[in-house]
Amino acid sequence: MRNLWTDPTTLAITCGKGIVPFLEQELTDLGYEVLGSNETMVGIKAKNACRDILRLNLSLRTAQRVLWPFVQDTRCRNLDDLYDLAYYAPWEQILNVDEPFFVTNVTKNDTIQDSRMPTLRLKDAIVDRMRSKCGHRPNVSGAVPVRVEADGAILYSKPTALRSAMRVIRAVLEDWLNTIPETQERADLLIEVDGYDLMSGNFYLPKLDLMVLKKRFERTFASRITEGTPSAAIYLWWEDTHAKIYIDTSGNSLSRRGYRKEGWLAPMQESLAAACVMATGWDKKSPFVVPFSGSGTPAIEAALMARNILPGMFRADYAFMHLRGWTSIIPGEKAGVSARRRIGATPQDIWREMTAQAKREEVAHDDPSVPVIVGVDWEEEAVDIAERNANAAGVGHNVKFFVDDFADTSLSAQPGVIFMNPPYGERLEEETALEPLYDGISTWLRTAVPSGWEAWMITSSKPLSLRVRLQTKQILDFKNGALDCRLLGYDIGKPLADEPEQPAEAVETVEVEEVEE
Ligand SMILES: C[S@@+](CC[C@H](N)C(=O)[O-])C[C@H]1O[C@@H](n2cnc3c(N)ncnc32)[C@H](O)[C@@H]1O
Repeated sequence: MRNLWTDPTTLAITCGKGIVPFLEQELTDLGYEVLGSNETMVGIKAKNACRDILRLNLSLRTAQRVLWPFVQDTRCRNLDDLYDLAYYAPWEQILNVDEPFFVTNVTKNDTIQDSRMPTLRLKDAIVDRMRSKCGHRPNVSGAVPVRVEADGAILYSKPTALRSAMRVIRAVLEDWLNTIPETQERADLLIEVDGYDLMSGNFYLPKLDLMVLKKRFERTFASRITEGTPSAAIYLWWEDTHAKIYIDTSGNSLSRRGYRKEGWLAPMQESLAAACVMATGWDKKSPFVVPFSGSGTPAIEAALMARNILPGMFRADYAFMHLRGWTSIIPGEKAGVSARRRIGATPQDIWREMTAQAKREEVAHDDPSVPVIVGVDWEEEAVDIAERNANAAGVGHNVKFFVDDFADTSLSAQPGVIFMNPPYGERLEEETALEPLYDGISTWLRTAVPSGWEAWMITSSKPLSLRVRLQTKQILDFKNGALDCRLLGYDIGKPLADEPEQPAEAVETVEVEEVEE
């Protein structure tokens, strides 16, 4: 049996769709050899398992999870096969019998109709194995993921004790939702518990009310519910008859850095925001400007990069801290100052040294090399939230947020990069209602943005993006939540002819145009 902390291994790192090239870039920059990749996973060689697991969890900006391959079977046809595969694996060498663990599964197998079943069966096998080897039952985490979304924006998403979750959701909804007066605005509300729809539908919910609902959920849940217990994590990937069981060393997705205390409508995942910043090719020295800044994620991610603040510095808990051997001495590892009295270092000591070293390597907030990063949103509440999030990330000094219309964003004489994540239509408003906004973006980019600046925009709407009549230099596909999006890089100073006023021949002479496939 391989030792997770000491034996050279391969590691699989997961990420969102479209992010693989940026994750590979990060891995190569860290000096890792990339062995292969698919749409959402990159495999690498890890020569020093302990240091590599810790370092990757701490440093990767675009990743979701760092997985250690444990057991696999290419003939896993059904749940009984899955049970056997898991039961005969030496879990007692990996898990602490008294620490809770949770299981995530990604299954594409025709025999499985209920997506909870692989998780339940896998949990059973692990519990049975541990009981037979250790004499008593391990503690399976009683928390289930609860997710409350309005128009795709997350209002609440945390592991929560199941029984209290149901009670609280009912209490919040019953005394409030039914009393909302009908307005012109409707929102798609989704409440999901453990991956299952508890309630979904289209309700009259003005945007302001959504914020009230969000606060209410946060307040009510915070007071009554035990947060997801820190625990070990297991990840099952099962496609047709190929099942792979990994030890998930991250637990909660690495995208959840921990600085985003509050979200605004349609917040971008931190890992996607980081990938977008990387995609713009920003040099971390010139100005970075984010109109439509919402809760501030892309601006904050840019500031973290400029300050060399590692994304894992905000999190106190990772699943690897709950695995066996976390506090055992690793042969050949010398104890540092933090463990002066011991001869050898433990993974915990190495983590302490690694994070202390990372802290020392951060660039000071007032260092002249750190550029101006600007966020602009016309909603005062969004700007307040963004400022609080930036402060929580320790970059409050470096990101300046302004309440303004995007078109009034002031740009410095020194050219830099503009990154826009405007409303898309599917999520916040109807597409047609957003046509004037995208026309406004077009006018702003063509008339107010000086040449030398770079401009990028992410959107899920092709018809709307086509209204930005500028040549595109690059188009990249990403997934933003459930939406297929494109990140478009524009050539400032190279406008396309305005369709309505131009005769047909004039439009045809344009060399590079974003073409409908
Ligand atoms: C899709 S959200 C941005 C989400 C953000 N990237 C995040 O991660 O939180 C779009 C934002 O654009 C803002 N907005 C819409 N129209 C605007 C305008 N004309 N000027 C400035 N901000 C605007 C909205 O208030 C909203 O916060």
